[in-house]
Amino acid sequence: MSGPQNPIPVNTPLLDGNERKYLLECLDTGWISSEGPFIRQFEERFAAAAGRKYGIAVSNGSVALDAAVVALGLKHGDEVILPSFTIISCAAAVVRAGAVPVVVDSDPITWNMNVERLAEAITPRTKAIMVVHIYGLPVDMDPVLALAAKHGLRIIEDAAEMHGQTYRGRPCGSFGDLSTFSFYPNKHITTGEGGMIVTDDELLAEKCRSLRNLCFQANKRFVHDELGWNFRMTNLQAALGVAQLESLPRHIIRKREIGRLYAELLTGLRDVQQPLAETEYAKNIYWVYGLVLGDSHPFDANEMMRRLAEEKIGTRPFFWAMHEQPVFLKQGMFSGVKCPVASRLARRGFYVPSGLGLSNDEIGRVASALRQMLS
Ligand SMILES: Cc1ncc(COP(=O)(O)O)c(C=O)c1O
Repeated sequence: MSGPQNPIPVNTPLLDGNERKYLLECLDTGWISSEGPFIRQFEERFAAAAGRKYGIAVSNGSVALDAAVVALGLKHGDEVILPSFTIISCAAAVVRAGAVPVVVDSDPITWNMNVERLAEAITPRTKAIMVVHIYGLPVDMDPVLALAAKHGLRIIEDAAEMHGQTYRGRPCGSFGDLSTFSFYPNKHITTGEGGMIVTDDELLAEKCRSLRNLCFQANKRFVHDELGWNFRMTNLQAALGVAQLESLPRHIIRKREIGRLYAELLTGLRDVQQPLAETEYAKNIYWVYGLVLGDSHPFDANEMMRRLAEEKIGTRPFFWAMHEQPVFLKQGMFSGVKCPVASRLARRGFYVPSGLGLSNDEIGRVASALRQMLS
């Protein structure tokens, strides 16, 4: 196999637009806290790009979910349906609010929430669905929206990985009562750390703004009727966000190119599932390039990641299913719950370097290492 070479990190961001210029503007003007002109600009422009009226910038995509759950008034005993195959942030937000997460299994092909399982999970206590678009393809939203309308359920749309993606031509992030995004550096646009809540509902927007800012009151600043958090984004982060948003169209083109290149170079890999290039409702945006090892391989994702690390190739495992999380099992949650697809994805799935800073040569090196290990 190849000799000593430079490491290929699992992600490298691309910061080659106006990032430096706008950051210097913050330093020159002294606007470095959460007060400052880039915040409003970023909120307005980002919301418009997602087809929404209001944007509320927050400190990351996880707290965006916390605020969304509380803003919708979800509380003790309310059931919220979400996929088992997702990041802990989703279930954690529900649990912290005292509500009950009800997890459903995923579709083995798209890796997104299985909509039939979702329909079966609805009970009289169900109050909301947390839709999570996973790894590059959106959830099939039409049946989800129909179920929500039929049963009077609210929708929180976790579009953390979906900037610039569409479902049947409509932007991801435009489907939830509240929709959320992350700007961690592995996202299509980054602010270092950061997140955004978007909505068309003025009252919900106000509520999220208040929750983000400790629920200070306009007239009696330090007298509180409700508890909030300090989830504010800084003007420095928003400056990065405005610059990155300008680059989003070309970032999306590059992400799709990376996906296409991997797919081409990995054609014919034996018994390894690769991301679906498209469905009838969306073209994959390849947030990450995930692989799922077939059962004929006598090793799991951990072993593959170890072997790739020896070649200095960075990887990440797929999400670990919520119904198998020690932190929830210890609390007596998810007892008897089975989501075999999510369990299998967690053990057999991993993703390879997929960041915007990845070069075509690096993609070639990753692909040839995979071919040697998996052919
Ligand atoms: C689907 C999903 N939701 C939420 C988050 C959390 O975002 P953050 O890392 O900004 O807290 C992530 C992070 O990658 C994610 O993939």
